[in-house]
Amino acid sequence: MKIILLGPPGAGKGTHAKVLSETWKVPHLATGDILRGHIKSGTDLGKKAKDVIEKGGLVSDDLVNAMMFEEISRLPKKEFILDGFPRTIGQAEALDVFLKKNHLRLDAVLDFETDENILIDRLSGRRGCPKCGANYHIRNIPPKKPGVCDKCGAALTQRKDDNPETIRNRFATYQKETSPLIQYYTNANLLVSVDANLDVPSLQKRFRTIFEELKLAV
Ligand code: AP5
Repeated sequence: MKIILLGPPGAGKGTHAKVLSETWKVPHLATGDILRGHIKSGTDLGKKAKDVIEKGGLVSDDLVNAMMFEEISRLPKKEFILDGFPRTIGQAEALDVFLKKNHLRLDAVLDFETDENILIDRLSGRRGCPKCGANYHIRNIPPKKPGVCDKCGAALTQRKDDNPETIRNRFATYQKETSPLIQYYTNANLLVSVDANLDVPSLQKRFRTIFEELKLAV
Protein backbone atom coordinates (compact mmCIF):
# COMPACT_ATOMS: atom_id res chain seq x y z
CA MET A 1 0.00 0.00 0.00
CA LYS A 2 1.35 3.41 -1.00
CA ILE A 3 -1.11 6.15 -0.15
CA ILE A 4 -1.20 9.86 0.60
CA LEU A 5 -3.54 11.50 3.11
CA LEU A 6 -4.38 14.99 1.91
CA GLY A 7 -6.46 17.57 3.74
CA PRO A 8 -6.48 20.81 5.71
CA PRO A 9 -5.07 21.19 9.23
CA GLY A 10 -7.22 19.34 11.75
CA ALA A 11 -9.03 17.18 9.18
CA GLY A 12 -7.95 14.03 11.04
CA LYS A 13 -5.05 12.87 8.85
CA GLY A 14 -2.81 12.01 11.79
CA THR A 15 -5.59 10.35 13.80
CA HIS A 16 -6.62 8.11 10.89
CA ALA A 17 -3.07 7.44 9.73
CA LYS A 18 -2.24 5.94 13.13
CA VAL A 19 -5.26 3.60 12.98
CA LEU A 20 -4.61 2.67 9.33
CA SER A 21 -0.98 1.99 10.10
CA GLU A 22 -1.88 -0.40 12.94
CA THR A 23 -4.71 -2.09 11.02
CA TRP A 24 -2.88 -2.60 7.73
CA LYS A 25 0.67 -2.85 9.11
CA VAL A 26 1.95 -0.10 6.85
CA PRO A 27 4.43 2.55 8.10
CA HIS A 28 3.03 6.02 8.77
CA LEU A 29 5.29 8.91 7.77
CA ALA A 30 4.01 12.24 9.13
CA THR A 31 6.05 15.26 8.03
CA GLY A 32 4.80 17.37 10.93
CA ASP A 33 5.87 14.72 13.50
CA ILE A 34 9.24 14.21 11.81
CA LEU A 35 9.89 17.97 11.70
CA ARG A 36 8.84 18.38 15.35
CA GLY A 37 11.27 15.54 16.17
CA HIS A 38 14.06 17.53 14.48
CA ILE A 39 13.11 20.64 16.47
CA LYS A 40 13.19 18.65 19.72
CA SER A 41 16.62 17.19 18.92
CA GLY A 42 17.97 20.59 17.82
CA THR A 43 19.20 19.45 14.39
CA ASP A 44 20.04 22.02 11.66
CA LEU A 45 16.78 21.15 9.93
CA GLY A 46 14.90 21.60 13.22
CA LYS A 47 16.46 25.05 13.70
CA LYS A 48 15.38 26.08 10.21
CA ALA A 49 11.87 24.63 10.62
CA LYS A 50 10.98 25.94 14.11
CA ASP A 51 10.08 29.52 13.25
CA VAL A 52 8.23 28.58 10.07
CA ILE A 53 6.08 26.00 11.86
CA GLU A 54 5.25 28.33 14.75
CA LYS A 55 4.06 30.96 12.26
CA GLY A 56 1.98 28.49 10.23
CA GLY A 57 4.03 28.67 7.02
CA LEU A 58 5.71 25.85 5.09
CA VAL A 59 9.27 24.58 5.41
CA SER A 60 11.03 24.87 2.03
CA ASP A 61 10.39 22.19 -0.59
CA ASP A 62 14.08 21.27 -0.87
CA LEU A 63 14.43 20.53 2.84
CA VAL A 64 11.17 18.61 3.13
CA ASN A 65 11.74 16.61 -0.06
CA ALA A 66 15.22 15.52 1.03
CA MET A 67 13.93 14.57 4.49
CA MET A 68 11.00 12.54 3.13
CA PHE A 69 12.93 10.75 0.38
CA GLU A 70 15.45 9.66 2.99
CA GLU A 71 12.60 8.37 5.19
CA ILE A 72 10.96 6.45 2.32
CA SER A 73 14.30 5.01 1.19
CA ARG A 74 14.80 3.54 4.67
CA LEU A 75 11.53 1.56 4.53
CA PRO A 76 12.26 -2.12 3.92
CA LYS A 77 9.08 -2.84 1.91
CA LYS A 78 8.63 0.61 0.36
CA GLU A 79 5.01 0.74 1.51
CA PHE A 80 3.77 3.86 3.26
CA ILE A 81 1.01 6.16 4.44
CA LEU A 82 2.18 9.72 3.78
CA ASP A 83 0.56 12.27 6.13
CA GLY A 84 1.33 15.93 5.36
CA PHE A 85 3.46 15.27 2.31
CA PRO A 86 3.36 16.44 -0.42
CA ARG A 87 1.96 19.86 0.45
CA THR A 88 2.88 21.90 -2.64
CA ILE A 89 2.83 21.22 -6.37
CA GLY A 90 6.66 21.35 -6.26
CA GLN A 91 6.73 18.57 -3.63
CA ALA A 92 4.22 16.48 -5.60
CA GLU A 93 6.29 16.78 -8.77
CA ALA A 94 9.48 15.87 -6.91
CA LEU A 95 7.71 12.87 -5.35
CA ASP A 96 6.60 11.70 -8.81
CA VAL A 97 10.20 11.81 -10.03
CA PHE A 98 11.47 10.01 -6.91
CA LEU A 99 8.84 7.25 -7.19
CA LYS A 100 9.47 6.74 -10.89
CA LYS A 101 13.22 6.49 -10.30
CA ASN A 102 12.54 3.82 -7.68
CA HIS A 103 9.98 1.94 -9.83
CA LEU A 104 7.18 2.69 -7.35
CA ARG A 105 3.60 3.81 -7.98
CA LEU A 106 1.05 5.51 -5.73
CA ASP A 107 -2.18 3.59 -5.15
CA ALA A 108 -4.40 6.46 -4.02
CA VAL A 109 -4.60 9.95 -2.56
CA LEU A 110 -7.31 10.17 0.09
CA ASP A 111 -8.64 13.71 0.28
CA PHE A 112 -10.20 14.58 3.66
CA GLU A 113 -13.13 16.95 3.06
CA THR A 114 -14.26 18.82 6.18
CA ASP A 115 -16.17 21.97 7.21
CA GLU A 116 -14.00 24.82 8.47
CA ASN A 117 -15.93 25.27 11.76
CA ILE A 118 -15.28 21.58 12.54
CA LEU A 119 -11.57 22.04 11.82
CA ILE A 120 -11.27 24.97 14.22
CA ASP A 121 -13.01 23.01 16.95
CA ARG A 122 -10.80 19.97 16.35
CA LEU A 123 -7.56 21.97 16.44
CA SER A 124 -8.42 24.07 19.47
CA GLY A 125 -9.52 20.95 21.40
CA ARG A 126 -6.61 18.74 20.34
CA ARG A 127 -4.28 17.44 23.03
CA GLY A 128 -1.32 15.13 22.56
CA CYS A 129 0.93 12.97 24.67
CA PRO A 130 4.53 14.21 24.56
CA LYS A 131 5.75 10.78 25.73
CA CYS A 132 3.99 8.17 23.55
CA GLY A 133 2.45 10.38 20.82
CA ALA A 134 -1.19 9.42 21.50
CA ASN A 135 -3.69 11.94 20.17
CA TYR A 136 -6.88 13.16 21.92
CA HIS A 137 -9.60 15.76 21.66
CA ILE A 138 -11.00 17.26 24.85
CA ARG A 139 -14.62 16.48 23.80
CA ASN A 140 -14.58 14.18 20.72
CA ILE A 141 -11.88 11.73 21.78
CA PRO A 142 -11.28 12.51 25.47
CA PRO A 143 -8.83 10.68 27.71
CA LYS A 144 -10.43 8.77 30.61
CA LYS A 145 -8.90 11.22 33.11
CA PRO A 146 -8.79 14.84 31.83
CA GLY A 147 -5.28 15.96 30.88
CA VAL A 148 -3.71 12.51 31.38
CA CYS A 149 -2.67 10.03 28.67
CA ASP A 150 -4.65 6.74 28.84
CA LYS A 151 -1.72 4.78 27.42
CA CYS A 152 1.27 5.96 29.47
CA GLY A 153 -0.05 8.34 32.17
CA ALA A 154 1.94 11.39 31.00
CA ALA A 155 0.44 14.91 31.19
CA LEU A 156 -1.13 15.89 27.85
CA THR A 157 0.02 19.05 26.07
CA GLN A 158 -1.28 21.38 23.36
CA ARG A 159 0.71 21.95 20.17
CA LYS A 160 2.35 25.39 19.91
CA ASP A 161 0.85 25.96 16.47
CA ASP A 162 -2.70 25.22 17.69
CA ASN A 163 -3.33 28.85 18.73
CA PRO A 164 -5.96 31.00 16.91
CA GLU A 165 -3.49 33.18 14.98
CA THR A 166 -1.31 30.30 13.74
CA ILE A 167 -4.41 28.23 12.91
CA ARG A 168 -5.62 31.10 10.67
CA ASN A 169 -2.22 31.21 8.92
CA ARG A 170 -2.16 27.41 8.49
CA PHE A 171 -5.59 27.52 6.79
CA ALA A 172 -4.43 30.32 4.47
CA THR A 173 -1.26 28.37 3.63
CA TYR A 174 -3.35 25.26 2.94
CA GLN A 175 -5.68 27.17 0.57
CA LYS A 176 -2.82 28.78 -1.35
CA GLU A 177 -0.18 26.05 -1.46
CA THR A 178 -1.83 22.69 -0.80
CA SER A 179 -5.39 22.78 -2.16
CA PRO A 180 -4.12 22.84 -5.81
CA LEU A 181 -3.01 19.24 -5.18
CA ILE A 182 -6.67 18.18 -5.32
CA GLN A 183 -6.72 19.02 -9.04
CA TYR A 184 -3.19 17.64 -9.51
CA TYR A 185 -4.14 14.21 -8.17
CA THR A 186 -7.57 14.28 -9.86
CA ASN A 187 -5.69 14.70 -13.15
CA ALA A 188 -3.47 11.75 -12.19
CA ASN A 189 -6.62 9.68 -11.55
CA LEU A 190 -5.56 9.00 -7.96
CA LEU A 191 -7.86 11.20 -5.89
CA VAL A 192 -10.53 9.62 -3.68
CA SER A 193 -12.55 12.13 -1.63
CA VAL A 194 -13.77 11.09 1.81
CA ASP A 195 -16.17 12.76 4.23
CA ALA A 196 -13.87 13.61 7.13
CA ASN A 197 -16.80 15.02 9.16
CA LEU A 198 -17.65 11.40 9.98
CA ASP A 199 -16.60 9.90 13.29
CA VAL A 200 -13.38 7.87 13.33
CA PRO A 201 -14.89 4.31 13.16
CA SER A 202 -17.26 5.28 10.29
CA LEU A 203 -14.45 6.79 8.25
CA GLN A 204 -12.22 3.76 8.90
CA LYS A 205 -15.04 1.58 7.51
CA ARG A 206 -15.13 3.75 4.42
CA PHE A 207 -11.36 3.31 4.01
CA ARG A 208 -11.77 -0.46 4.13
CA THR A 209 -14.31 -0.29 1.30
CA ILE A 210 -11.99 1.95 -0.73
CA PHE A 211 -9.06 -0.43 -0.19
CA GLU A 212 -11.21 -3.39 -1.21
CA GLU A 213 -12.25 -1.58 -4.39
CA LEU A 214 -8.60 -0.76 -5.13
CA LYS A 215 -7.64 -4.37 -4.34
CA LEU A 216 -5.29 -3.17 -1.59
CA ALA A 217 -7.08 -5.12 1.13
CA VAL A 218 -5.70 -8.60 1.59
P1 AP5 B 1 1.30 18.87 10.58
O1 AP5 B 1 1.70 18.34 11.88
O2 AP5 B 1 1.23 17.94 9.41
O3 AP5 B 1 -0.04 19.68 10.76
P2 AP5 B 1 -1.34 19.86 9.84
O4 AP5 B 1 -1.30 19.46 8.43
O5 AP5 B 1 -1.72 21.27 10.10
O6 AP5 B 1 -2.29 18.82 10.34
P3 AP5 B 1 -2.65 18.56 11.78
O7 AP5 B 1 -1.68 17.65 12.42
O8 AP5 B 1 -2.91 19.85 12.52
O9 AP5 B 1 -4.08 17.91 11.59
P4 AP5 B 1 -4.52 16.44 11.24
O10 AP5 B 1 -5.27 16.47 9.95
O11 AP5 B 1 -3.41 15.46 11.36
O12 AP5 B 1 -5.60 16.26 12.39
P5 AP5 B 1 -5.56 15.31 13.68
O13 AP5 B 1 -5.68 13.89 13.28
O14 AP5 B 1 -4.46 15.68 14.60
O15 AP5 B 1 2.32 20.04 10.13
C1 AP5 B 1 2.70 21.05 11.04
C2 AP5 B 1 3.59 22.07 10.33
O16 AP5 B 1 4.78 21.43 9.82
C3 AP5 B 1 2.97 22.74 9.10
O17 AP5 B 1 2.12 23.82 9.44
C4 AP5 B 1 4.24 23.18 8.34
O18 AP5 B 1 4.80 24.33 8.88
C5 AP5 B 1 5.20 22.02 8.59
N1 AP5 B 1 5.08 21.00 7.51
C6 AP5 B 1 4.50 19.78 7.62
N2 AP5 B 1 4.54 19.14 6.44
C7 AP5 B 1 5.16 19.98 5.56
C8 AP5 B 1 5.47 19.89 4.18
N3 AP5 B 1 5.15 18.80 3.45
N4 AP5 B 1 6.08 20.94 3.59
C9 AP5 B 1 6.42 22.03 4.31
N5 AP5 B 1 6.14 22.19 5.62
C10 AP5 B 1 5.50 21.17 6.24
O19 AP5 B 1 -6.98 15.73 14.32
C11 AP5 B 1 -7.18 17.00 14.90
C12 AP5 B 1 -8.04 16.84 16.18
O20 AP5 B 1 -9.33 16.38 15.84
C13 AP5 B 1 -7.48 15.81 17.18
O21 AP5 B 1 -7.71 16.31 18.47
C14 AP5 B 1 -8.34 14.55 16.94
O22 AP5 B 1 -8.46 13.82 18.13
C15 AP5 B 1 -9.66 15.14 16.48
N6 AP5 B 1 -10.30 14.33 15.46
C16 AP5 B 1 -9.69 13.81 14.37
N7 AP5 B 1 -10.57 13.13 13.61
C17 AP5 B 1 -11.77 13.25 14.24
C18 AP5 B 1 -13.09 12.79 13.94
N8 AP5 B 1 -13.35 12.06 12.84
N9 AP5 B 1 -14.09 13.11 14.77
C19 AP5 B 1 -13.84 13.84 15.86
N10 AP5 B 1 -12.63 14.31 16.21
C20 AP5 B 1 -11.60 14.03 15.42
